[in-house]
Amino acid sequence: MGTNGITITRTTSGKPKPKDADLAFGTEFTDHMFLMDYKDDKGWYDARIEPYGPLSLDPATAVLHYAQSMFEGLKAFRGNDGKIRLFRPQKHVERLNRTAERMCIPTIDPDLILKSWTMLVDLDRDWVPRAVGTSLYIRPTLIASEPFLGVRPAKQYVYYVILSPVGAYYPEGINPVKIMVVDKYVRAVPGGLGEAKASANYAASLYAAEDAKHQGFTQVLWLDGVHRKWIEEVGTMNIMFKIADEVITPPLAGTILAGVTRDSVLALAREWGLRVSERQISIDEVTEAAAKGTLQEVWGTGTAAVISPVGELSYQGQRIVVNGGRIGNLTQKLYDTIVSIQYGEARDTRGWTLEV
Ligand SMILES: Cc1ncc(COP(=O)(O)O)c(C=O)c1O
Repeated sequence: MGTNGITITRTTSGKPKPKDADLAFGTEFTDHMFLMDYKDDKGWYDARIEPYGPLSLDPATAVLHYAQSMFEGLKAFRGNDGKIRLFRPQKHVERLNRTAERMCIPTIDPDLILKSWTMLVDLDRDWVPRAVGTSLYIRPTLIASEPFLGVRPAKQYVYYVILSPVGAYYPEGINPVKIMVVDKYVRAVPGGLGEAKASANYAASLYAAEDAKHQGFTQVLWLDGVHRKWIEEVGTMNIMFKIADEVITPPLAGTILAGVTRDSVLALAREWGLRVSERQISIDEVTEAAAKGTLQEVWGTGTAAVISPVGELSYQGQRIVVNGGRIGNLTQKLYDTIVSIQYGEARDTRGWTLEV
């Protein structure tokens, strides 16, 4: 028995750990996983840590048919001081429960969610890689586990957490990416699932992302689902622009994910005294700024890359080159600042990290 009524069953045969230099994203998993079950008449019960392994699901399990499913994603970092830190885990806890609510999935006690992450990372702490830029990705997932084919919220769920050591996102240094602005497909509409971290949103994004990749782009920049004019977000990142010294990012109005990195960047930019606007920005405004020479920097924000500079946008066959295709000063400063907090190199004056 562990603390907080969480049962721990340790593996008797630990897996060999991959070399830090061989790490990719999401291909290797640690020795243990966290699991908890839910039934309508019992609530959440049987919180436990077990050896990592397959789930057994009845073919009729609701999630396999109607995608009542959601997840979160955050990272643990090993600093030069040997300490392991999670970055803003409370924000991810809050978002997990917001998504659960939208997906008709029962919410979980926030303290227990946090405990499930810290206990599991602590148990598998030797799996947190050491090389510069590497980290341990934490993937909490919630699925409807009731074997039932009717379309209604399930009466049974599983919450589980797995951990994956991941390589440096920029092993060869930061290179700005090329992004395709799509107006043929949309990701979300007002009133839909856009602001939830629902698995279905990712399924909905695949076709356009493949299309963009075939045309030589890294990702898709989504426009709003009604007018196909207002900028939303890019791939699995939020998007930001610096135009005539104003930092602009689309508002949290229901169709985009409330990124934790987005929130962190906005906080830093405001602290640094920059003019920051969470407001609608149209693709035409960006095109016009580029023509006038006032489009200074464009970057994406997200857990995977932290900051991803955009060197080129393509819209209706027109190329918009940003800052000569080079990373901008503010983009670089934001990246350096956040990464140094994550790895414990800069003092965490904002309470953003949680030591495990
Ligand atoms: C659709 C989408 N937008 C934005 C983000 C960025 O969010 P965060 O900064 O919390 O990782 C993510 C996930 O990483 C995402 O999947």
